Amino acid sequence: MSRRVVRILFLLVVVGVVAVLLPRSGPLSVNLNVNVPLPVTVHIDNPSPALTFHSENVLKPIQKSPPTLKPKPLSAKQHSILSAITSFSKYIDHTLNVIAVRKERFERLPAEQRPLAEAIGYNTHFEDARMRAKYTMKFLDDVADYARELYGFAPGDIADKVYHECVSDFLAHVGRDWSSEGSQERASIFSPILDALKDGLSGVKGEKKVLVPGFGLGRLAHEIANEKDYSVDACELDYGSVIAYNYLVNRTMATFEHTVYPYITNWPFQRTAKGRFAPIRFPDMLPTSHVNLVEGDFLTEFPESEKYDAVVTLFFIYVSENIIDFLSNIHRLLKPGGLWVNLGPFKWGSFSQMQLSAEEVLDLAERLGLRVDHDSKRSIDAVYAHQVDSLLKYTYVTQFWTARKL
Ligand SMILES: C[S@@+](CC[C@H](N)C(=O)[O-])C[C@H]1O[C@@H](n2cnc3c(N)ncnc32)[C@H](O)[C@@H]1O
Repeated sequence: MSRRVVRILFLLVVVGVVAVLLPRSGPLSVNLNVNVPLPVTVHIDNPSPALTFHSENVLKPIQKSPPTLKPKPLSAKQHSILSAITSFSKYIDHTLNVIAVRKERFERLPAEQRPLAEAIGYNTHFEDARMRAKYTMKFLDDVADYARELYGFAPGDIADKVYHECVSDFLAHVGRDWSSEGSQERASIFSPILDALKDGLSGVKGEKKVLVPGFGLGRLAHEIANEKDYSVDACELDYGSVIAYNYLVNRTMATFEHTVYPYITNWPFQRTAKGRFAPIRFPDMLPTSHVNLVEGDFLTEFPESEKYDAVVTLFFIYVSENIIDFLSNIHRLLKPGGLWVNLGPFKWGSFSQMQLSAEEVLDLAERLGLRVDHDSKRSIDAVYAHQVDSLLKYTYVTQFWTARKL
């Protein structure tokens, strides 16, 4: 045998061994770049019976489990939104629980007194309240579903924390802002503000840019935007208000389309039994004027300085943790000569770093470059989310003023 033939036979043996060691999946091509005149490509379709194929010798591909997608942690904003959505969804559990506790108290009444209670119909109130809770829940569920869709949450997504005040605040605010029952409450506080804007901005040519921070459910902002030549931006931090407002604007076709029962757990201070079950039908006016609502913190969401002809604060400045930050921001956002209109009480929270008197707030405002119009200053009695006909009435002696940026 020539040396060349020996080399080729040797190569074939090598190829056979490689074929045994490699996994079999389809035709195997081995490119042999050994010392032969031309590269030889040997195709092995069927291994010879001599090269027995044992499955345990096969190099199996490593079985990887499918990648598990870790849910992305929620941002602080998403967390607040989901928490508000979950609070809306859980309204019924919380409310039925409150009613059950009240019923349990009632059942402690001595048996011989029970006929008297039944004679005045007290025993029927629990079922009446439950029915209205379920009715209210239908609306809240619609808001929650809409908000999930709007902010990209799945139906099963829930937050681990709920805050029931988010729903009770909404139920109170919707009466204040969007029902006929709230019209008197609104008239006493909106008129001075609208008049002050009309007088104070009469010199502004063309579009008048107004900012309403702490917008709540937005009625004041819409009343301003209803006026000719006003362009209104607003800002709200609380997602309970934001999601309910978005629903109101985007999913409401007709006036008085929605009904809720805000007082079904407010049994003290009722004049009549019926008062507990008073409905609030809304909206009494469709929010059709354009308001640009910025979701988030008024201190951080408006980078552009000197943008506004007016800033309007209604029941707002006392919610600040740091009143100097709030006043400085109002000053920064106003154009030179711009107008600040304020109406509100001084109901500082325990979280406020300073709990100032009205005089002190005005003193600070002046020092920060806001010249107060002392002739505009006055006290206006106002209620807040008041149930008409309730036997309890908190009256705030609110302080109204206007000021100009120097
Ligand atoms: C007492 S409520 C008044 C709401 C509305 N102005 C009214 O009179 O019905 C104060 C509102 O300010 C909002 N708020 C508090 N701090 C805020 C901030 N830093 N930025 C934006 N909104 C804020 C609260 O969520 C709340 O809705």
